[in-house]
Amino acid sequence: MTSLVVAVPPKPVRKAVFPVGGLGTRFLPATKSQPKEMLPVVDKPLIHYAVDEARAAGIEQFIFITGRGKAAIADHFDISYELQHQLSTRGKDVAALAGHLPDPGQFCFTRQQEPLGLGHAVWCARHLVGDEPFAVLLADDLMMGDPPCLRQMVDAYRTVGGNLVCVEDVPRAYTSRYGILDIDKETGNLVSAKGIVEKPQPEKAPSTLGVIGRYILHPDIFRVLEKVERGAGGEIQLTDGLSAMIGKVPFHGLRCDSRRFDCGDKAGFVVANAAFALQRDDLRDEVRRQLQDLLDDASEQFSGA
Ligand code: UTP
Repeated sequence: MTSLVVAVPPKPVRKAVFPVGGLGTRFLPATKSQPKEMLPVVDKPLIHYAVDEARAAGIEQFIFITGRGKAAIADHFDISYELQHQLSTRGKDVAALAGHLPDPGQFCFTRQQEPLGLGHAVWCARHLVGDEPFAVLLADDLMMGDPPCLRQMVDAYRTVGGNLVCVEDVPRAYTSRYGILDIDKETGNLVSAKGIVEKPQPEKAPSTLGVIGRYILHPDIFRVLEKVERGAGGEIQLTDGLSAMIGKVPFHGLRCDSRRFDCGDKAGFVVANAAFALQRDDLRDEVRRQLQDLLDDASEQFSGA
């Protein structure tokens, strides 16, 4: 199948959807009474990084698909009068409390009453998004790079339109953790795809190109998701919706020039903390010294074992 190319430039991507309704079971007990998306990497919650990335890509409206127990996310993006007052009366800097606040009305929240999967979470945004392309960001895929990942995607989207997903090569042994593309053609960092399969076993995977948590979607996805049956894990899979649209709108993967940290996974989350700390002028030297000590001790311990 040849790539469908858009004849007229697509509408701009102004809105972003943040699905934050999942249960975060892999992080229990940490996520028993706080949202996974509020776990901090260094000193900023995961969702804060995702919002910053969307802002840097020109997003103007931010739509959160929440669930029970997720109120801390809305609070994080609101004024905290009490804390502000406490800090001011003690002569402390309040800058950390304000820089990320949205303009009034720029953020909205709707509840996914049951966590029925990513496809269902995205579908919950249909009335808020309307008939225009939109981005989806999964906060637990934390991206490091400049220009930011979604910015790279928005730039590529202007040429290809349709549905655009962020992809990276994954080890074949891990294909069952990802939506995997069936590749038609590769041009530079853009891949046109003739299929997508949700979490295939390694021997059945059509490639090792896995979809990661950044998407730009055509609004027809809402009509398609309406009809998608529950798939893998009894959930409504976004992958099944994307698959049903192939041939109707262009479908591409973009290999972004960014490093991904899978913060939905414990090891990825721990490494992300080290990596982001090492980027910071105020932390780099001390963190490097302490990590080096730790690694030296660990290698002594294991070489003696
Ligand atoms: P995950 O697949 O990582 O699921 O969701 P999860 O429930 O958050 O975590 P585990 O696997 O139980 O540890 C990826 C993203 O999609 C959102 C999650 O909040 C997360 O940001 N999501 C997932 C929803 O919003 N609703 C769902 O029904 C499922």
